[in-house]
Amino acid sequence: MCGIIGYIGEKHPKEILLNGLKNLEYRGYDSAGMAFKNEKEIQIIKSVGKISNLEEKLKKQSIIDCHLGIAHTRWATHGEPTEENAHPHKVGKITLVHNGIIENAATLKEQLQKEGVVFNSSTDTEVAAALINKYYKKSMIKAIEEAIHDIKGSYAFGIICDDDPNTLYATRCESPLILGIGKKENFITSDIGAILDYTKKYVLLGENEIVTLTKDSYSITKNGKEVNRKVLTSDLSSEDTSLRGYEHFMMKEIMEEPILVDNIIQKYKNHLENLPDLKKYKHIHIVGCGSAYYAGMIGKNLFEEDGIKVEIDVASEYRYRNIIYDKDTLVILISQSGETADTIAAMRKAIEHKVDTLAIVNVDASTIARECTYKVLIEAGREVAVATTKAFILQVLILSLLSYKINPDKEYLKDLEKLPQQLKVLLDKSGFYKKLADAIYKHEDVFFIGRRIDYAISMEGSLKLKEVSYIHSDAYQAGELKHGTISLIKNGTIVFGIVTDEETKDKTISNLEEVISRGAYPIYVGTENCHYEHKILVPKVHKKLQPILVVPTLQMIAYYVAYKRGCDIDKPKNLAKSVTVE
Ligand code: F6R
Repeated sequence: MCGIIGYIGEKHPKEILLNGLKNLEYRGYDSAGMAFKNEKEIQIIKSVGKISNLEEKLKKQSIIDCHLGIAHTRWATHGEPTEENAHPHKVGKITLVHNGIIENAATLKEQLQKEGVVFNSSTDTEVAAALINKYYKKSMIKAIEEAIHDIKGSYAFGIICDDDPNTLYATRCESPLILGIGKKENFITSDIGAILDYTKKYVLLGENEIVTLTKDSYSITKNGKEVNRKVLTSDLSSEDTSLRGYEHFMMKEIMEEPILVDNIIQKYKNHLENLPDLKKYKHIHIVGCGSAYYAGMIGKNLFEEDGIKVEIDVASEYRYRNIIYDKDTLVILISQSGETADTIAAMRKAIEHKVDTLAIVNVDASTIARECTYKVLIEAGREVAVATTKAFILQVLILSLLSYKINPDKEYLKDLEKLPQQLKVLLDKSGFYKKLADAIYKHEDVFFIGRRIDYAISMEGSLKLKEVSYIHSDAYQAGELKHGTISLIKNGTIVFGIVTDEETKDKTISNLEEVISRGAYPIYVGTENCHYEHKILVPKVHKKLQPILVVPTLQMIAYYVAYKRGCDIDKPKNLAKSVTVE
């Protein structure tokens, strides 16, 4: 989703902002812009579409000499993706970039219009600029304080004032924004990846704290009082954001899975005491969005087999559902980014009800990691491709280890040791997946069927395929298909049958036969050889680990199908990496 980077220092900001925006590209956006400020003037340049369009514009224009600038990638919420709506927005003396959604923008706009403000865009961001401008008399901090007092919703703002070419201001609420601390230069950004080429030192900003940055100092205030915050050091490197010879991040990230899985195994296999003990809870709720939710579905299967009652919800439903909380309830929030708006809201609902919360997250500095009672980091490094791959596998691995801790058995440990190598062997067969992709890429409808844990795997396999290749795909519980959806099966329809669950595999095979007799073209995914022409065979391992070998093969298929269809694999249309709005 939208991304922010701001710079103040001794260098010209153009290249730094451009590089920052390129590092934010993976989040998904539809327009981009920059503002430069010196003693005399402010220059704003925007463009629709790719950052390369903005780069072209920047080349063609003469850019003012300056040391202060802000930049933004926009993912449209209020108003079309046009140049007028792209950020930065300037009203009066205030120029700003904004992530988030101002919920009362319409009311504020009406009021401001009555006071004579003329708006040039349909954005909520321009309303924020107008509001700060209205309150600005002498002190920017006071003006920002008054404005955010009026604003309802989520925001991260990077702000420049016409009167001051040496100061950058920022504030946030429910939308991430951090401060990057350099040598004779400072930064603001919504994503640390944008500034890792310049500094690893950063400061987290609390809600409604206002930061004032100059090239060699910064101060943070809230309600007029100074706030002290620790300077932290990120262990991410800018290497994490480079392709290292791969054509796409999605493939690079899939290929990282064996080593990352191994790292987690080595960390916990003899130190289960470092994982929370779920046995003490009578009831578990699992909440997430998209793939994180499907990882949760796998977790539900595992914990139920361990004898714990589990409920699972997508976060956007959980936050509005009338949940009956028992006192021995644990709510597990699964999120790669730790910043997904609905998952944050679900977490806060659980916190309000005074039950324990456990974050399974990738980004340590994220809101979910910070606010939950417990956290387990999946340690995936930075995931750049919009479609999650390695983070999903690591989420499942953590859930599997938590389940093993509830219910240990020796076979599990034996299989755990072998897992990274087996995964590597499976991923090394790129020729095989490419060939299978050849049989799929021209189709427009694909189904995935499975039961229990195989249904959860089907959901993820189907999501991966549709989001990167734009082929329509659906996942069904194998037994449910004949209650309606089977009418869509025609000659040649591709149906993946996920058949790894020992107790239901015969039933799923019968369901596969049912669709074959109606013309479907089956692709069998299982652990035992079979007569089907197209099959993906994976080694049989402990059932708590099986999805970790199966899902990567479906990720490979999705990748190669999308590749053959010429799709923008790392940045599928309409999608954003981190969904920070409701
Ligand atoms: C799909 C995908 C999304 C995310 C979902 C949750 O490939 O990446 O479905 O899983 O948006 O995001 P996080 O995990 O950041 O909360």
